[in-house]
Amino acid sequence: MRRFRVAIMGSGGVGKSAIVLRFMNGEFLDMYDPTIEDSYRKQFDVDGQPCVLDILDTAGTDQYLTFNDLFIRDSHGLVLVFSLTQRDTLEDLYRVRQDIERLKASEGQHVPMVIVGNKTDLELYHDVRGVEGMKLAADAGCEYIETSARHNTNIDDVFAAVVRQIRIH
Ligand code: GTP
Ligand code: MG
Repeated sequence: MRRFRVAIMGSGGVGKSAIVLRFMNGEFLDMYDPTIEDSYRKQFDVDGQPCVLDILDTAGTDQYLTFNDLFIRDSHGLVLVFSLTQRDTLEDLYRVRQDIERLKASEGQHVPMVIVGNKTDLELYHDVRGVEGMKLAADAGCEYIETSARHNTNIDDVFAAVVRQIRIH
């Protein structure tokens, strides 16, 4: 069975761990406990074909950002998350994208990835319009998916999308 390494990246508090834990065990993580680094493994069927996903849940807080290069180099695919309630978290992804370009795209390597706008359930607090997430994804040539870890909206779709991207390339 094919095994894919996927890293989930983005600023602190955007919901990376909540997305991963929702995917892994179907539960919502209500409490905020900043991640240092966690890894998970799950067998997952995409389009009728099984694969094993090794998911690396990374730290969003600044002091760990130096590891970004390592995660980008070492993964088959990336899930880049921002929060629809915090504009600066979308802007941070433009920087991550620059790192990706510098590390991989310059060598002509395509990087399978998905851009995720999380916390759709907090509509009252939205600070970013979906179209802006779409634009970032269009610039990066990848898919844009809006999720709610709280309501379990589109969570499996995120991982299916990144697996499809990896399989194509
Ligand atoms: P770091 O580990 O510091 O990088 O943060 P993170 O991106 O892993 O964020 P985390 O998943 O810990 O979530 C931060 C806070 O946002 C927690 O209190 C979560 O319960 C909350 N949260 C995450 N996803 C959602 C969501 O879809 N909706 C709502 N309402 N809250 C969410
Ligand atoms: Mg976390």
